Amino acid sequence: MRTQVGIVGAGPAGLLLARLLEAQGIESVVLEARDRHYVEHRVRAGVLEHGCAETLREAGVGARMDAEGLTHDGTNLRFGLKTHRIDFAELTGRGVMVYGQQEVVKDLIAARVATGGELRFEVGDVALEGLESEQPVITYSRDGGRESVECDFVIGADGFHGISRGYLPDLTAYERNYPFAWLGILAEAPPSAAELIYARHANGFALHSMRSPTITRMYLQVAPDESLDEWPDERIWAELHTRLADDSGFVLTEGPLLSKGITPMRSFVASPMRHGRLYLAGDAAHIVPPTGAKGMNLAVADVRLLARALGGYYAAGREDLLAAYSDTASRRVWRSTHFSWWMTTNLHKSPDDDPFDEALALAQLNYVVTSRAMATALAENYTGLPYEHDWYYR
Ligand code: FAD
Ligand code: DHB
Repeated sequence: MRTQVGIVGAGPAGLLLARLLEAQGIESVVLEARDRHYVEHRVRAGVLEHGCAETLREAGVGARMDAEGLTHDGTNLRFGLKTHRIDFAELTGRGVMVYGQQEVVKDLIAARVATGGELRFEVGDVALEGLESEQPVITYSRDGGRESVECDFVIGADGFHGISRGYLPDLTAYERNYPFAWLGILAEAPPSAAELIYARHANGFALHSMRSPTITRMYLQVAPDESLDEWPDERIWAELHTRLADDSGFVLTEGPLLSKGITPMRSFVASPMRHGRLYLAGDAAHIVPPTGAKGMNLAVADVRLLARALGGYYAAGREDLLAAYSDTASRRVWRSTHFSWWMTTNLHKSPDDDPFDEALALAQLNYVVTSRAMATALAENYTGLPYEHDWYYR
């Protein structure tokens, strides 16, 4: 089998890239290790930057998002029992879209299936060959046999635990592990506030988010080695009530839990994002701690760049856009890495209760809620900086 672009991984990065390429008449094959039901039901991120939502609309997959997603024009920071609203719309003229990652994935898969594009689930033992040649080959197992796809380019969009990153011989990894994790729950309960609440509390961080008018999504800071067995539902609710309390009578509505999971917190940046004809995109190249909701947004920003670079190559034989991809993408990656680190550091409790760290974090939070300049900095990072390098790709 032959194609122009071979894409490993059907997460937001791989699926959106396939869609953006299709719109330019470029053929691709998407290879996914898991089954369709699994990838469509994996609960993960929920906040789309303004530009990310626009990108999905431009790609023709924004209709359900616009009908069912929730537009938020601000967010709440809660600490010392006080709630402070950051008004994104007033500070930046933009808001964010609250719409689950698995819904984005469902919309992208439906669009791919509708146009008959190649998308293969449950492929095993993916291996890459000839990456330094002009005809790299992806091989994989399926239905008991070994199959292969010859391509012009291979895109590693296979997430943090994928195989693609292992094919970069000169990779430098920048890494930071945080001394805590998030316990995430999905509850069948109407959200208790109109917008998200990021709460810093002496017991640790808590986040109140949502997926719809009837589904609440919440997170609690827990120890990195904690097991779900230690968190029966009653303990989760008790801790959420404690950490989300404020002095204005906030009431948290409970409901049956639909899912529970623990996510480690890590920053990781791989550089460069390219070797020969292999290009990495999304979590395969970088991950951020979830505070600040940047993970999926960065994956989308990467594939926007890649789609334009590949478009330039096929339409006009341009190699320069592809050559610039790693450096261009990395600038946004580092900006988001800093923002996610900043949000994480200032909203979480350090496990050793260091009073110096605590005082610095509170100094930062107090600064954000009293300075328009700082509030604007938070708002523009959160709603998403413009795709600044788009001019370069025109
Ligand atoms: P992925 O979504 O990981 O997609 C990669 C795909 O490749 C997967 O479908 C995988 O099955 C497939 N794959 C892996 N290996 C292979 C292989 N060898 N061959 C073929 N296919 C393969 N971000 C937030 O902003 N907020 C959150 O609350 C949040 N929560 C998260 C919770 C968890 C448990 C995780 C893991 C991530 C979370 N993130 C969150 C991050 C966000 O979900 C990711 O940044 C986003 O999924 C990145 O998209 P991607 O397409 O690059 O990678
Ligand atoms: C969600 C996740 C985040 O990491 C975040 O910062 C905000 C919202 C969510 O899953 O809704």
